Amino acid sequence: MQSHSPRNPDKTLPPGSTIGILGGGQLARMMAVAATRLGLNTHIYSPDANCPAALVAEKIIVGPYNDLDRVLEFSQSCDVVTYEFENVPAMTAKAAASAVPLRPGARALNVSQDRLEEKSFLRAQLDLEVAGFEDITSIHDLRRAVKRLGLPSVLKTRRFGYDGKGQVILRSEADIDGAWEALSPAPCILEAFIAFDREVSIVAARGLNGEIAAYPLTENIHRNHILHTSAAPAQNDDGSAAKIAAKILDHLDYVGVMGVEFFQMKNGQLIVNEIAPRVHNSGHWTQNAGCTDQFEQHMRAVAGWPLGDARPRQGVVMTNLIGDDVADWKTLAAQAGTHVHLYGKSEVRAGRKMGHVNRTK
Ligand SMILES: Nc1ncnc2c1ncn2[C@@H]1O[C@H](COP(=O)(O)OP(=O)(O)O)[C@@H](O)[C@H]1O
Ligand SMILES: [Mg+2]
Repeated sequence: MQSHSPRNPDKTLPPGSTIGILGGGQLARMMAVAATRLGLNTHIYSPDANCPAALVAEKIIVGPYNDLDRVLEFSQSCDVVTYEFENVPAMTAKAAASAVPLRPGARALNVSQDRLEEKSFLRAQLDLEVAGFEDITSIHDLRRAVKRLGLPSVLKTRRFGYDGKGQVILRSEADIDGAWEALSPAPCILEAFIAFDREVSIVAARGLNGEIAAYPLTENIHRNHILHTSAAPAQNDDGSAAKIAAKILDHLDYVGVMGVEFFQMKNGQLIVNEIAPRVHNSGHWTQNAGCTDQFEQHMRAVAGWPLGDARPRQGVVMTNLIGDDVADWKTLAAQAGTHVHLYGKSEVRAGRKMGHVNRTK
């Protein structure tokens, strides 16, 4: 147990320390496994006692995220608290941060959990290229915004969207009413549709001392708005994506791993799509590339350790196992060069991420 006056003057949490993780899904599970390898313990806070991370962590504290007393009790059992998802409520983050350091900090949550805040931050404060966007709170706003941004365009809820949920593409004016009906009354943004050449991402970490380690550029292919494959290192990486990621990390005085998603145009121009203040699905390939994987990297960063080597020794293609894909586990396990990662979810549902495979080249 530790207060803000650190037990360790150099701020490095030694082996035996406890990292608290808000959220108990597959990302928390893989972080907990990585922490264990470093001799660190993990406590999980989740509303679900049977979540994927509960099976591998030292302790699970079950409670809703808005039970602030319970969150405080959980945080007091840890030396540092982190999270696996960007939708941690502000009050929850505040309760955790009142007991121990919260890494990454609350500012990273503020800018990444609301698409309007996120795009405004990236454009106005960092001067980065983002898709044209408009704030939408009524059908009138939407009609006006469609005139400004043109068609096609994408209507997205400001908060709680993931895997393409909470967004509708408008292809003609006839789609306007239906799109608004589908997403309202949630506050939304309308985004210009980007005719990208490819989608790429950067996963990068920033340590407590400000050092930065970026993994190489990764090329991502989505199917039904869900990430299907990530291939790394991507071809034609001129280093600009890593520079953009470093700018974001420094500006937020960030500690931990972050994922930055981009649309890349034919001429190479990078448009930032979104940022994720956590380990990222497009970084799962790092587990079998011969470098420090992103989960260990995040644990190192939040524990104040030196960052590990982010240079892969070999190329990897990661493929998500969505829904019934996971039924092939035995065939996949028999393939040479295929590394199987399963999340321990008992119920298979369409569109649910059940595991992934990393294929080395
Ligand atoms: N403005 C856009 N132009 C073109 N494609 C888009 C746009 N916004 C989203 N998409 C497509 O939908 C995917 C999911 O959208 P995204 O904004 O990343 O939401 P999330 O990943 O939170 O569901 C993107 O990776 C991209 O393939
Ligand atoms: Mg996305």
